Amino acid sequence: MKISSRKPGLFGFICLIVCAALPSLAAAQRSTDFALLDQHGTFHQLSRYGESNAVVLFVQGNGEESSRQALPQLQALQERYREQGVVVLLLNPNPTQTRTSVAQELASVGVELPVLLDSAQVVARSLQVESTAQAYILDPVSHDVLYTGPFSSQTANADSAGSIPYLENALIAILAGQEVELAADMPSPAGTPIDYLYRSRFADRQISYQDEIVPILKRRCTTCHIEDGLAPWAMVSHRMVQGWSPMIREVLVTHRMPPGQIDMLEGEWDNVHQISDDELITLVHWIDSGARREGDSDPLTEQVAVDDSWKLGEPDLIIDVPAEKIPATGMVDFKIKRADLALEKDQWISAVAYNVGDRSVLHSLLVFAVDPNIDQKDLVGLIDPANAEFISLYVPPRTEESFADDSGFLLRQDRDLSFKLRYVTGGRETEDKTRIGLYFRDSAPEFSVHNVITLNTGFNIAPGEDNHVEIAETEPFEHDVLVESFAPQTHTRGKSMSISARYPDGSEKRLINVANYNFNWQMNYKLQERLSLPAGSSLVSETVYDNSASNPQNVDAEAQVKVGITTYDEIFSHFVRVLEPVEN
Ligand code: HEC
Repeated sequence: MKISSRKPGLFGFICLIVCAALPSLAAAQRSTDFALLDQHGTFHQLSRYGESNAVVLFVQGNGEESSRQALPQLQALQERYREQGVVVLLLNPNPTQTRTSVAQELASVGVELPVLLDSAQVVARSLQVESTAQAYILDPVSHDVLYTGPFSSQTANADSAGSIPYLENALIAILAGQEVELAADMPSPAGTPIDYLYRSRFADRQISYQDEIVPILKRRCTTCHIEDGLAPWAMVSHRMVQGWSPMIREVLVTHRMPPGQIDMLEGEWDNVHQISDDELITLVHWIDSGARREGDSDPLTEQVAVDDSWKLGEPDLIIDVPAEKIPATGMVDFKIKRADLALEKDQWISAVAYNVGDRSVLHSLLVFAVDPNIDQKDLVGLIDPANAEFISLYVPPRTEESFADDSGFLLRQDRDLSFKLRYVTGGRETEDKTRIGLYFRDSAPEFSVHNVITLNTGFNIAPGEDNHVEIAETEPFEHDVLVESFAPQTHTRGKSMSISARYPDGSEKRLINVANYNFNWQMNYKLQERLSLPAGSSLVSETVYDNSASNPQNVDAEAQVKVGITTYDEIFSHFVRVLEPVEN
């Protein structure tokens, strides 16, 4: 909630004055945008608090007196200033303190505030955090650091008589648009020094571009950032990477790249784009020290080009997706297309492969088996399970999807295929002619692949609403099933979503947490091991929508939003792939 309109530069200006006048403070500091998950797996990004007037960030450590003392007071501060657009967050940069232990620590002092878990210590590094109990006030728009210091004189020094609320005084001044006046004798926070793990690792040596950086880029980035690939620029040389390095740092620290990251602390996943703390620290540290290269050779220039062959061999059936002309710029709405099959008999599909026409524009493609007699011109026809069943999803860079050896999708003779395509524009006009290859089995498998859908069509999201929660639940399963993967889908207001199992005894278990949903990346998340659900269980999905202007994907923050087929409308349809035994 915004209490007054303000110019983004104002706070930076105040900080400049304060910081210049007080040599005891760090010089005027500009932080960067950052994003982290909290102890409940909720995603927080500084810039997504852009509607707020100030973000208070306090560095917390489990079992430490100085932060324990401040926590109830921070909670009270949050209550007092919420209406004035103040958000209070905690930061824990100790990689050995887990989500559970942090949740227990807060419960032990009766406080419920989000604790951002900075296990890679990159946010702490950006803010130059020296010890726990350090407090910050950040401008969520400019990312300027408006205040650095203790919460109060009491938390800085337990013996001091009376307490000066340094942080709150600064906050009051900031909210009033006034200069922050700080006592020249303001003490340092009395917390524990931060133990930066990488300091000793990277001390006195240059990180090797060839041996450390390139392998990470090849593992995590160059599948897309390749010549003629999906990404708008290719990592084809050290020069290129060095030139992009400030941007690379930002997309890493905000967890935007690699895309489609989910909460890796829940579930064991196959093939999810992610980056480990260790890789993240190495890249960020290398960039901060100049993104330099040793020696003359450059392994990135030896890249191989995109492989356009059918990697699974020649398909049994090749289907042309009707071609689509894509303009150079602007937004392209979803395309719904059809292909007649005229199968001679039912077929068990063992794999689906995608021969993508233009990788720079096709962002996702859903394949459905549909009843040809039903009007499938629109999405509504596609989401009714009686008419249409979801088969497979193409999301770059994976161009094939094989079902496991013991399973297959039964494509009935009387079905055709429908496609839902999402295109982006890439700066030049082009035509996409994508082909789909189907591979058939000779005999029936042990398990048949089905796609259950948790569907909600009754929502109504108000303009500007930034945390609109919707729920949907499936009917209980009649038989035991095995759950294999999840493809949650919303349009541009989707903020986060999760899917849980509800067991017959009423207990629930969260199966997937897409903490930071990104419309550009509608993935199919596959479990490493199938999960068995007994008959009588159901699936419960939660979707949170952000219809505010702080959502960078939002196509229109002024609109009242209901279910619909265009990008301007919303959907709530989460596909869950389950396996059921084939009856002989
Ligand atoms: C699955 C494909 C894919 C992978 C893997 C991937 N990127 Fe990207 N990247 C993209 C696409 C597509 C874009 C264009 C923006 C978008 O669609 O989100 C992009 C954009 C970017 C940008 C520009 C951001 C901007 O705002 O223009 C940077 C920087 C970047 N990626 C860095 C990386 C790094 C570093 C990695 C590896 C750690 C990586 N990417 C992995 C596909 C990918």
